[in-house]
Amino acid sequence: MKGIILAGGSGTRLYPLTVVTSKQLLPVYDKPMIYYPISTLMLAGIREILIISTPADLPDFRRLLGDGSQFGVAFSYQIQQNPEGIAQALLIGEEFIGKAPCALILGDNLFYGGGLGDKLKIAAKNAEQGTATIFGYYVSDPERFGIMEFSKTGKILSVEEKPQNPKSNYCITGLYFYPSGVAEKARRVTPSERGELEITSLNDMYLSEGKLNGLILGRGFTWIDAGTMDSLVEASTFIQMIEKRQGVQIAALEEIAYRYGWISKEMLLHSAEKYGNSPYGQHLLNVATDTFLC
Ligand code: TTP
Repeated sequence: MKGIILAGGSGTRLYPLTVVTSKQLLPVYDKPMIYYPISTLMLAGIREILIISTPADLPDFRRLLGDGSQFGVAFSYQIQQNPEGIAQALLIGEEFIGKAPCALILGDNLFYGGGLGDKLKIAAKNAEQGTATIFGYYVSDPERFGIMEFSKTGKILSVEEKPQNPKSNYCITGLYFYPSGVAEKARRVTPSERGELEITSLNDMYLSEGKLNGLILGRGFTWIDAGTMDSLVEASTFIQMIEKRQGVQIAALEEIAYRYGWISKEMLLHSAEKYGNSPYGQHLLNVATDTFLC
């Protein structure tokens, strides 16, 4: 199973914050935003990850994240020349994906909640068995999102991009799992009226073949698309609240890698030392010395 993080875009809604840097490098409380989607892929058990960003920003991602060995994963990097749609990520990543199933996550999407790992693993298993999976989240302003409609038994009936008359309040979050052959399918997506290769068009293809699953992230989960000023601040406040109250770290990548057995204690201690006195470094030290157990 491979994973792609789409971390390009223009970030115009965050100007002037994003004039000289990528949205996905901005802080969400105590970490760069991209740490959160990386952690989501890692929780799904994915260790081969392609990061796609703009020609200007890609070198910064490489400088921040390196080859991934520090986190027990392997990062590759590719450029998206222009933000021409989310489905384009699967074309850019065609060679990287090869014949494997592949997850795609947007670089500004944060997922958090007990049992998330189990849901992700269900989606990964579906992809390995030949079907796609999308995740639904209840929103009060469905006109702004891709929306999924589903039956009482949980079967998806339709997917629509920013509908004027939404058939449900469940938006499609920026995390998608696809089976082998997704790049070939993505090649058949044609640009929409706004000139983008829409991910909803790709999902609709899977739906029409009876190969699209929907998993609902209920009230126990938090999903934040951190692409606006307010949601960026909300994301930071949310992470701060959980981390301070529970004494945990969300998206501490070395911690996840260590708990999954992907890096050794020596490597964890090396990172702890590198991050020194910061709360992140201190947390890694606590994990390594077993003073933090859960
Ligand atoms: P958006 O938030 O829709 O776009 P944006 O980041 O360009 O921001 P703005 O609307 O403020 O100008 O994109 C959602 C995520 O997907 C975000 O993480 C950027 C990424 N993205 C790309 O990297 N390439 C693309 O072609 C598109 C459409 C999005």
